[in-house]
Amino acid sequence: MSAARTHQHSINRRGFLRSSGVIASAAVVATLPRPWFAAIPLEATAGLPGSLGPPPDWESVQRAFDVDRSLINLNNGGVCPSPIVVQRAEAAHRSESNRRPFYAHQGEIAPQIERIRSDLADLIGADAEEIALTRNTSEAMEIVQLGLPLQPGDEIVTTNHDYPRMLNTWRQRTAREGIVVKTVDVPVPLSRPDDLVAAIATALTDRTRLVMCCHIVDLTGQVLPVRAIADAAHARNIPVLVDGAQSLGQFPFSMEALGCDYFATSLHKWLMGPQGTGLLYIRRDLIPDIWPLMPSSGDSPDDIRKFEDIGTHPPAPVLALGEAITFHRSLGAAEKAARLCSLRDYWMDQVVEYDRVTVRTHTPSAYALATIDVEGIDPVDLRNHLWEKHRIRVRPIKQSGVSGIRVSPGIYTTTNELDQFVEVLTDVIRTGIPS
Ligand SMILES: Cc1ncc(COP(=O)(O)O)c(C=O)c1O
Repeated sequence: MSAARTHQHSINRRGFLRSSGVIASAAVVATLPRPWFAAIPLEATAGLPGSLGPPPDWESVQRAFDVDRSLINLNNGGVCPSPIVVQRAEAAHRSESNRRPFYAHQGEIAPQIERIRSDLADLIGADAEEIALTRNTSEAMEIVQLGLPLQPGDEIVTTNHDYPRMLNTWRQRTAREGIVVKTVDVPVPLSRPDDLVAAIATALTDRTRLVMCCHIVDLTGQVLPVRAIADAAHARNIPVLVDGAQSLGQFPFSMEALGCDYFATSLHKWLMGPQGTGLLYIRRDLIPDIWPLMPSSGDSPDDIRKFEDIGTHPPAPVLALGEAITFHRSLGAAEKAARLCSLRDYWMDQVVEYDRVTVRTHTPSAYALATIDVEGIDPVDLRNHLWEKHRIRVRPIKQSGVSGIRVSPGIYTTTNELDQFVEVLTDVIRTGIPS
C-alpha cells in the first residue's frame, strides 16, 4: 500500500470509528504503542452493527476474571478463561438441570437456545437458520468434512497450516474413499497474501469439490486472505470451508465480508464462552447437501438443527453463552480487537529489534497471537524454561515450516505481566537459557 493510500485508509477508518463511537477508546490505550485503530480492516465488518458504547475500563475487565495470577498465561490461543459472570451462569444452569433434569424442562430451554442461536447469528451477520450449535470447532468442521458427498478422485484443496485434526480427517476419507487432497504451503511470514491466493487458485481443477483454509492460522496467528481465496474458488463454482477457531471474538467480521460457504468456530476461545461450545455456519442453500454426523429420525434435511441431534449432552454451556455474548458486546468487538493488538505490540516492540529474533507473523494482518523464534534456542526448551523457572505459559511451535514460541495474551492480561515476560525473554535473547 502506498503512503498516500495508507494515509487515506487511516482517515477512512478514523471516520468510520468516530461515527460508530469507537474513537472514544483511544485515550484508554494511550499508554500503549501503535495506532490502535489500525486493528480492523474496514471491509471486514460489512453488514455488522457498529460499536454501542462507552470505552471499556481495562482494569475492571481484568478484575472480571478469576484467573490464577501466580502464573502468567500467554497461551490464550488454546482456551480462553470465561469471565466470572459466565462461570456463574453456567453453574446456575447446571444446577437447574440437576434440580429438574434436562428432559423434564426441554420445552423451557428450547426458546432460550433459539435466542442464543439468533444472538450468535447477529455477531457474524448471518441468519439464525444458518447457525448450528456444536461442541467445538472440530465437531463443526467435521460435520462438513465428513458430511459432504464425495466420489473417488474428487479433490480437496487445503493448506499445510490447517489444523492437524482437520488434515487427518481428509486423510481418513482418502484411505476410505480415495479422495485426493492437495496441500498448498503458506509462506512464513505471510507478507504477500496474494501469493497464497495465487497458489490456491493454481491448485484448483475441474475435480476440486472444496477449498478448506483457516481464518486465523493457529501456528502464527496470521489472518489469511479468505475473501480473495473465496473469490478465486467461486470463480470456478467451488465452495469454501473456513476454520475460524481462532477468529470469532478476536475481531469483528461478517459472513458477507468473508464470503465463505461454511464457517466453523469455537466459542470457548476468544468469545470466552463455556468450554465445550462452538458453532457451524452453513450458507442456507447448502444445508440439505450435508449429511449429519449423527443421523436422527424426524429432521428435515434443510433444517440446520439436524446437526444438533447428538444425544443427551449438558445444556448449561450453551445457555451460559448468553452471558458470554453480553460480556463481549459490552466491551465492543472493535475495542477488544484493538486492545489485543496493543497488548501484542507491547511485548513484541521490546524484543523484535534483537538480531537473534525472527518474527514468524506478519502483524499488520494479525491480532492477539504472534510467533517469534530466538536463533539457537529450541522452542520447547524455551517454553520449558519460561514455565518451569518463571511460571509463564507460551506454546512452542515446531511444525509445517514454523519454529518459535507462540505468544497470545488475553484481554485480562496486564502490562505488568507482559513486562515480566519481556524481562525473562530478553535475558534469554542476550545470554541464552541459564543452565
Ligand atoms: C485453527 C484451529 N482449528 C481448530 C482447533 C480446534 O478447536 P477445538 O479444540 O475447539 O475443536 C484449534 C484449536 O486450537 C485451532 O487453533
